[in-house]
Amino acid sequence: MDFSGALNIVLVLVASCLLFLLACRKKKFKNLPPGPTPLPFIGNMHQVDLSGTYGPMYTFHLGSRPCVVLSGYKVLKEALIDKAEEFSGRGDFPAVQMWSNGNGEPCRWRSLRRFAISTLKNFGMGKRSLEERIKEEAQFLMAEFRKTQGKPFDPTFFLSCAGSNIICTLVFGDRFEYTDKKFLTLLDLINSNWKLMSSTWGQLLFTFPKIMRHVPGPHRLIYKNYLKLAEFVRERIEMNRETLDSNHMRDFIDCFLIKLQQVPPIYLRTMSKTTVNLFFAGTETVSSTLRYGLRILLRHPEVEEKLHEEIDRVIGPNRSPCMEDRSRMPYTDAVLHEIQRYADIVPMGVPHTVTRDIEFRGYTLPKDLNIIPLLCTSQFDPTQFKNPNSFDPTHFLDENGRFRKNDALMAFSAGKRVCLGESLAIMELFIFLTSILQSFNLKPLMDPKDIDITPESSGLGNIPRPYQFCLLPR
Ligand code: HEM
Repeated sequence: MDFSGALNIVLVLVASCLLFLLACRKKKFKNLPPGPTPLPFIGNMHQVDLSGTYGPMYTFHLGSRPCVVLSGYKVLKEALIDKAEEFSGRGDFPAVQMWSNGNGEPCRWRSLRRFAISTLKNFGMGKRSLEERIKEEAQFLMAEFRKTQGKPFDPTFFLSCAGSNIICTLVFGDRFEYTDKKFLTLLDLINSNWKLMSSTWGQLLFTFPKIMRHVPGPHRLIYKNYLKLAEFVRERIEMNRETLDSNHMRDFIDCFLIKLQQVPPIYLRTMSKTTVNLFFAGTETVSSTLRYGLRILLRHPEVEEKLHEEIDRVIGPNRSPCMEDRSRMPYTDAVLHEIQRYADIVPMGVPHTVTRDIEFRGYTLPKDLNIIPLLCTSQFDPTQFKNPNSFDPTHFLDENGRFRKNDALMAFSAGKRVCLGESLAIMELFIFLTSILQSFNLKPLMDPKDIDITPESSGLGNIPRPYQFCLLPR
């Protein structure tokens, strides 16, 4: 056979394979919600909330992968809460999977999640003992703030140290000094990854994981940073292993090491991954919310004034704030909820998948289909909040000034994969913020009206604009 004959056969074979794959794909995805036509290669990444055109549920192509986007409180509730089991799979998360190969298999995530929650509870998550630890850390934070002597500074690093030290106590059994070089390097790695995942490069990686893995650019740092975090965790695991005493468990890592002896399917690699994920998820989220919250208060001095009034009346100047105070501080509670709503620090949620073929709102969603729960569309849903685009604490207050819950606030997501650090994060946010305002007045460096409270960039996270301000002792 001559060369052109062979080439023709190859081309016919390739074309047939492609047609066959396309036909299978079409069959699998035959009844998805409508959505924009996918453009070759660039997907639909540049358009995000298309609910105005396609309704609360639409198909959006991330590169070649179809994803179903859920938009607005109603559909998010129907999926994540009413059909919690079916929507509980973990979707593609390339920035992390690039390193971890994923651990989304149903049995593995379920048992790991159960193990993580019960172990963190054993070490005090959601309990009095951890509250004491947070109160102690708040005092370390206040001491650092006092050292600024009313001069302008950027709070990022201090807030990261405080937030991270709480998760470090649980995971590594100890806190770090704010001057500890290794700790600061780790925080820098986490902060840099959060920013990269929220940048255009991070979005490109999310959309075209296979291609972007080979393209040079700052997104490659995400992987390198993860490896460094993993290396630190591996060192800590070894330290714990050498001194392990099953009668005296010191931290999450000790419990994991014991579990490793009992349950063979949990491997060292999984252990290191899970620990890094906890460390990462527990550090940047709380500190970003506080950083964003303080900037919002600089923009709204009238809100800060009311917070001072409530703190002075309920707590006074002579004792540390505690969680019991919260029920007597409806205004502070409402402001914290509104900060979480407005700051909206995980706007697109974390991708889910459906765990089996299901019919949902008249569409057929095949098993493993990626689902993007656009949490921001619930937090800013005009049918649930009267003034969604403004910072307005009355969203969480009734006409008598009492705290009023609103289920459309989905900062921690909802359902089976709801943030597992929610109770811990709520404690930290309340105690850190009230401690700051009990001790200091916030002083902006410009006219409050000129402070821009929109995010600097938005991707996995909403990143607040960098800023400096002064803290004046009260
Ligand atoms: C203000 C602070 C926080 C916010 C806004 C937040 C938000 C979220 C969101 C939106 C998710 C995705 C849930 C989903 O897939 O539907 C999540 C998952 C998660 N969060 Fe948080 N989080 C915060 C603090 C924390 C803390 C302090 C920890 C540490 C204990 C933590 C650990 C986790 C973990 C381990 C997951 C994955 C759960 C799973 O896959 O089953 N988070 N968080």
